This record gives sequence, structure tokens and C-alpha cells, in this order.
Amino acid sequence: MRMRITDNPTFIEKLDRIEELERERIYCGHGLGHLLDVARIAYIYSLEENLGFTRDLIYATSLLHDIGRADEYESGIPHDEAGAVIAERVLRECGYDEKVIAEVCEAIACHRGQELGEGGSLGELIRRADKESRCCFRCGARDSCKWKVKNEGVMR
Ligand SMILES: [Fe+2]
Ligand SMILES: [Fe+2]
Repeated sequence: MRMRITDNPTFIEKLDRIEELERERIYCGHGLGHLLDVARIAYIYSLEENLGFTRDLIYATSLLHDIGRADEYESGIPHDEAGAVIAERVLRECGYDEKVIAEVCEAIACHRGQELGEGGSLGELIRRADKESRCCFRCGARDSCKWKVKNEGVMR
């Protein structure tokens, strides 16, 4: 029987730390609410566009995609890089199989930056959902935010 990601001690410790470090942050946070927003949006896109990703794979990737944030704040390691390493550990501890671990970690490692140009990849799906999860049009911090408003969405 697999352990739930949300019951995994490493996941809980990192998420607690992120939420603590972001308490005073004026920009978007990376707590559980954001992770679930990304999961739900990504799953809707996957269904609408028949991308064929399972709900389990999308939720695993979404829950873990920003798990490297605390390391980025504390050590300066980019969170996609740090996140892929933490995700590998969490997924292994939870009993996921190696093929799924590799797929999730690759998607996490490339969920930032420029569009990937491959509409159907898991990393691109998460990147899009991440972008669409933010309500920049109602944000008081948008003038100094590094996410630039483009069309109606936002781009990092
Ligand atoms: Fe991110
Ligand atoms: Fe995110």
C-alpha cells in the first residue's frame, strides 16, 4: 500500500517551512492551496485536451512541483532543481514506481522558464496550469512582480 504524499514527513516538513518563510511575502505563495489549484487546473486541461495523464500522476506532480521553494529561499538553489531532488525522495518513500518517479521529476525540473513548445508533455501541462492559477489581474503586487502580464495570463 502506497503512502499518501500529503502524509509523507519530508513533504510535510518542506511545506511547513515554505508556508512559514512566505508568511510576510507580498507575492503569490506556494502553500497547499496553490499546489491543489495547479493540480485541479492541470487535470481539467488533461481531460479537455485528451492528454491522457492519470489523475494520480497530475496530483503527484502538482503537489511536489514547488516543494523546492524553501531550499531556494534558504540556499539559493533554483526551486525546480531542488524540487526534483526532494520529489524523488518523497515519491520513493511513498512507494511509487521508478518510471513514475522519473516522469514526475523530469516535469518538475522543467516547470519554469520559457514555454517548452511541446503542448503534450507533463512539464508543459504543469507550467500552463501554474501560470493560469495566478490571479495577477487582481494583485496589488503586480507592478514589482517578476511574472510579467501578457495577454490575459501571466508569464514568468
Ligand atoms: Fe514553481
Ligand atoms: Fe507553482
